[in-house]
Amino acid sequence: MSVAVLLLLGLGLLEAEGRCFFSHAQKYCVCYNLSEESLSSLIQCLPASVVEFRGGELEKYVAFPISDPDPSTIEMLGSLVVRKIIFGELLVPEILLAWILRFFSYTQVQELVFESCIFEGRGNWDEMAGQDLPILSLHFHNVTSPPLMGREQDFSSLSSWLEILQELAVTASHVTSLPCVIGRVFKDLRSLDVAQNSLGDESLMATFCKGAFPQLQVLSLQRNNLTSYHRVCESVQLLPELQHLDLSQNKLKADPSSSCQWPVSLRIFNLSSAGLDEVLTPLPPSLEVLDMSCNHLHAVDISFSSLKKLFLSQNMLQAAPSIKNYPMLDTLHLDNNSITELPWNEVKHLQDVAAADNPYNCSCSAAGGLQALATLGHLGQSWPQDYTCHSPPHYRGKLVKDVPVSVLHCNSAAVIAPVCIALALLGVAGGICLLRSRPGLVRHCCRV
Ligand SMILES: *[C@@H]1O[C@H](CO)[C@@H](O)[C@H](O)[C@H]1NC(C)=O
Ligand SMILES: *[C@@H]1O[C@H](CO)[C@@H](O)[C@H](O)[C@H]1NC(C)=O
Ligand SMILES: *[C@@H]1O[C@H](CO)[C@@H](O)[C@H](O)[C@H]1NC(C)=O
Ligand SMILES: *[C@@H]1O[C@H](CO)[C@@H](O)[C@H](O)[C@H]1NC(C)=O
Ligand SMILES: *[C@@H]1O[C@H](CO)[C@@H](O)[C@H](O)[C@H]1NC(C)=O
Repeated sequence: MSVAVLLLLGLGLLEAEGRCFFSHAQKYCVCYNLSEESLSSLIQCLPASVVEFRGGELEKYVAFPISDPDPSTIEMLGSLVVRKIIFGELLVPEILLAWILRFFSYTQVQELVFESCIFEGRGNWDEMAGQDLPILSLHFHNVTSPPLMGREQDFSSLSSWLEILQELAVTASHVTSLPCVIGRVFKDLRSLDVAQNSLGDESLMATFCKGAFPQLQVLSLQRNNLTSYHRVCESVQLLPELQHLDLSQNKLKADPSSSCQWPVSLRIFNLSSAGLDEVLTPLPPSLEVLDMSCNHLHAVDISFSSLKKLFLSQNMLQAAPSIKNYPMLDTLHLDNNSITELPWNEVKHLQDVAAADNPYNCSCSAAGGLQALATLGHLGQSWPQDYTCHSPPHYRGKLVKDVPVSVLHCNSAAVIAPVCIALALLGVAGGICLLRSRPGLVRHCCRV
């Protein structure tokens, strides 16, 4: 924002009426259709910590002569409170981008986002060599740009900045490959999100070459074109710090001949919606969170001494996995499976259990177990409305909550036996009395 204000102040373009909207509560300013007309109201964005530019014609300013800011401008830029800038629905000439970034070196902007933008042409990045930028987080979503191949020189001009970048996201942007050299520039990157692209098994190998992303902790490959579980394993093997890997929404298959081992640092593993018919092996050895929701699993027969959270909703499980195999477990989600009974004695020690939309057998012990879990407050939001009985027939469709589990209903043997004995004794006593008063009856009875 400051950049544009200053630029256009300098150009004498700020007289006309504009359309920026500032929310004091959120410290958020949004400006529509960046143009000469919309720029005067940019002034009101000065107290904002987030500024968003949506739509407009950036390309018109490419030809303006641009010089470095003078010392008083630099001081002013340094005092601005804006920390995050979003550019949306814009055509961005790369020349202008290079210049904008130079301006940012005087600000305290930490986060830069480009959404639905088209990058055009080729900028001159030489002047960025050795420049430090305060930006730590860079996001691109639904963008198109000229290919990155063959741009080693540009990346090396930007390297003193890119070396300290912490977070990079390039999502939904038809990325099919990321050259190895790019990864080597991002020496300090902690989080890389390349979800919703077209990365395949082979290109992944090239991206995570030796020395690429040495500090990477979080990697999202969600919804790409990955198919081989073991090729992915081989690709990320060289990431020594990797803690969180998201492979969800890829159609993964195992290759039994591979002996690839996942990085031991891996703690959080997301395999949801990955088309799995069975649990793939090997799994990372020190997992704490494992998400295998939305697959076709019939059984989960694994043990993990370190596992704390296990997500298995939307599968075809007939029974809950054995809790004994997970001594550290605190969270277990089993919604939408084919489970008829929860082993409540085992799961009652967990903090968070979700098991809605299963075909419960509402025999006394099963319904009683679920009701007890609910009383302990472990069943969360979907209790009671999404816990229904499937059997026995007279409870079908009824809420588990409404199944009577009192001693009278459930333990009929314990209740009926004493009642029968009491009745029998009464009968005997009554009989004796009758016999005494009317002895003739005995004969009558014996004849019958
Ligand atoms: C993606 O960006 C293009 C402009 O490049 C835009 O027309 C389209 O609506 C955007 N798609 C989504 C889903 O935002
Ligand atoms: C996905 O990968 C397959 C081969 O593994 C390839 O034939 C296909 O074109 C790829 N799809 C996309 C969208 O890249
Ligand atoms: C796994 O990824 C899905 C999206 O594909 C997301 O909804 C889910 O929250 C993720 N699970 C974990 C444990 O982060
Ligand atoms: C179970 O699946 C159905 C259909 O896919 C869905 O509507 C429902 O919300 C799911 N229940 C839970 C608790 O996720
Ligand atoms: C339900 O549970 C009861 C008691 O454990 C058992 O006798 C019965 O066979 C079960 N019914 C079904 C349909 O699983």
